[in-house]
This record gives sequence, structure tokens and C-alpha cells, in this order.
Amino acid sequence: MNRKGYMVLYGTQTGTAEDLAMELQEDIQEMGIECECENVFDVDFSRLDSLEHIFVIISTWGDGDPPDDADGFCEALSSVSAGRLTGLNYAVFALGDSGYELFCECGKNVDKFLGFAGAHSLAERVDCDIDIDEPFRVWKENLLSKLRNYAPIVWA
Ligand SMILES: Cc1cc2nc3c(=O)[nH]c(=O)nc-3n(C[C@H](O)[C@H](O)[C@H](O)COP(=O)(O)O)c2cc1C
Repeated sequence: MNRKGYMVLYGTQTGTAEDLAMELQEDIQEMGIECECENVFDVDFSRLDSLEHIFVIISTWGDGDPPDDADGFCEALSSVSAGRLTGLNYAVFALGDSGYELFCECGKNVDKFLGFAGAHSLAERVDCDIDIDEPFRVWKENLLSKLRNYAPIVWA
């Protein structure tokens, strides 16, 4: 059985988050789970109501701001009402640079507002500095191990 409603969402300025999102999507699909991958810019916020799992990979720009294309999504999320997203499972991977005062602020806010909306955190958020590979591997493996509970049985 394939569960519906898995989506990797990314918010990016220069493409890093998109590359990671596509890698995660591929790994999830290899487990036999259908999974979409979209820029948050292309996703109507109301779509979240129909999803069971979202995995958000998002960077921070300016002075703790979302990437340009992620403005609308982050604004919609910041005004979501308490309990609106109960039943949604999520995980956040926040990209940033600790040289900036508001380190990974956008990812932290996404995590905060999803929690406020009643969504269930499936894997602890990772705030990732400029070395990305190892933190991403650790976050992804943790997340995939949780998802294995949902994977269909494949008979040899
Ligand atoms: C002009 C500029 C502003 C940035 N502002 C922040 C910031 O406020 N906080 C932070 O944690 N990282 C900041 N970053 C770092 C980016 O979030 C980081 O490079 C990230 O990996 C970019 O991912 P992306 O290619 O998916 O957008 C900034 C980078 C640049 C070049």
C-alpha cells in the first residue's frame, strides 16, 4: 500500500535547498513511497490540508528573511491558526550561515509555526551551517528511519 500525500518542499535563493530536496525525494521514492517535490512558491498553502507528510528544506537570506520565492508561503504560515494542521507530520532542514546574526531564522520560524498549527514533528530540525553534507546525511537518515514504518512490504 502506498500512502498518498508526501511532499518535499523547498525554499531557495541559489539552488542549494532544491538539490537537497530532490535528493530526499529520490530516497523516499526508492522506499516505495510516492513523493512530490515542489518549490514553496508553486504550492498553494491550502494544499497542506490534503497532505500527510511535508519535509521542508529552506534557506535564510537578507537579515533573517525567507528566500524571495518563499515570502508568500512563510507569510501564510506565520498567520496560520492554532490546530489548523493537526494530522500533518513534518520535518524541517534549515540552511544558513552562522556568520549571520539570525542564523537559520527562516527554517526556525517554519518549524515554530508548523508546531503552533498542531503539526507533528517527525524528526528534529537541523540548523545547517556552511558545511552541509554531513548534517544533511544525519537529518535525512533520521527521517528515513521514521518513514520506514510507512513503507510498503516488498516480497522477494
Ligand atoms: C546575501 C546573503 C544573506 C544571507 N543571510 C543569511 C541570514 O540572515 N541567516 C543565515 O543563517 N544565513 C544567511 N545566508 C546564508 C544562506 O542561507 C546559505 O548560503 C544557504 O546555504 C543558501 O541556500 P540556498 O542556495 O538554498 O538559498 C545568507 C547568504 C547570503 C549570500
